[in-house]
Amino acid sequence: MIAKAEPQEHMRRKRDAYWSDLVGGVTGRYKTEQVIRQLAGRRLPADSAVVDVGAGTSDLAKMVAEIGGASRIICVDYDETIVRNGASAESDPRVEWRAADARELGGWSDRVGAVTFFDILHELYSFVGRAGGEAAVDHQLGRAAVEEALSAAASLLAPGGVLIITDDVLPEEETAVRVACRRPDIVAVVRRIEREYRSRTLEIRWLDEQVFEIPARTFITLLTHYNKPKAGNEARWAVEQMEVHEYMAVSEYDAFLRRINLTPSIAVGTPAEALAEWQEDFQLLAGLEAFPFKRVSVVASK
Ligand SMILES: C[S@@+](CC[C@H](N)C(=O)[O-])C[C@H]1O[C@@H](n2cnc3c(N)ncnc32)[C@H](O)[C@@H]1O
Repeated sequence: MIAKAEPQEHMRRKRDAYWSDLVGGVTGRYKTEQVIRQLAGRRLPADSAVVDVGAGTSDLAKMVAEIGGASRIICVDYDETIVRNGASAESDPRVEWRAADARELGGWSDRVGAVTFFDILHELYSFVGRAGGEAAVDHQLGRAAVEEALSAAASLLAPGGVLIITDDVLPEEETAVRVACRRPDIVAVVRRIEREYRSRTLEIRWLDEQVFEIPARTFITLLTHYNKPKAGNEARWAVEQMEVHEYMAVSEYDAFLRRINLTPSIAVGTPAEALAEWQEDFQLLAGLEAFPFKRVSVVASK
């Protein structure tokens, strides 16, 4: 079980000034484009539903239903307030809202053509991963929760159905990266993240006033979060401090999805705006030739 206090505090923080930034921001646009590209030309099984897990809003599920030709949309979230608000604002008769945890999808009688996990799995990873209430997320526990949700989703799918995932991604490289901050204000932001971020130890080792070493796998975590405090976006930072966004590398998605008898197609990339900002703020001195990819999108068919 997830310790109750942690997700409830997260749900509370999310309601303030969070959604428009999340859904309408750079990442929202980027993941929408990625998924449209990956789904192009695919038809979902006839008369099937799209189940959007961790839906937040029904926008992305409607997009998948349009592209794939689904007849129903089931939006699922474990936050009952989101489900209540979504259901009362919904005018599309194809859409139904249900309150459920991502790991409790098995056993539904609906014919399901797609199960989507748009940027939810990192939350599952983070909150089940620290079920005892610790500050840091336990990787084994979090990873097991992600696998449980994906297995439940795969069991729901009709033959020919697809599982869709978007999220941030771990790099394959285990190397240490040497990085220079290009300006003193960037040093200050990195120092702030180091002080305030407790969800994973970033293992930063400062070599001088501006240069630090960091494992590639936590460098991506730093890159993911630093621009919120940098931009003074305290609402997003308050939410993201509680989360680890990177829990699997591409090779791990591929191996796991094949183990549950799905055939994955996986794309990685970084929104151009994010990459430009990283290049403006940091210089890679050693360990990596280029900045790690930020985003993954997966379409896995049954
Ligand atoms: C980052 S938001 C993403 C919302 C939307 N899918 C999108 O991409 O814009 C994550 C959503 O997942 C929901 N969520 C987190 N953990 C969940 C769980 N264990 N079961 C179901 N929903 C969950 C949250 O309440 C939230 O609405």
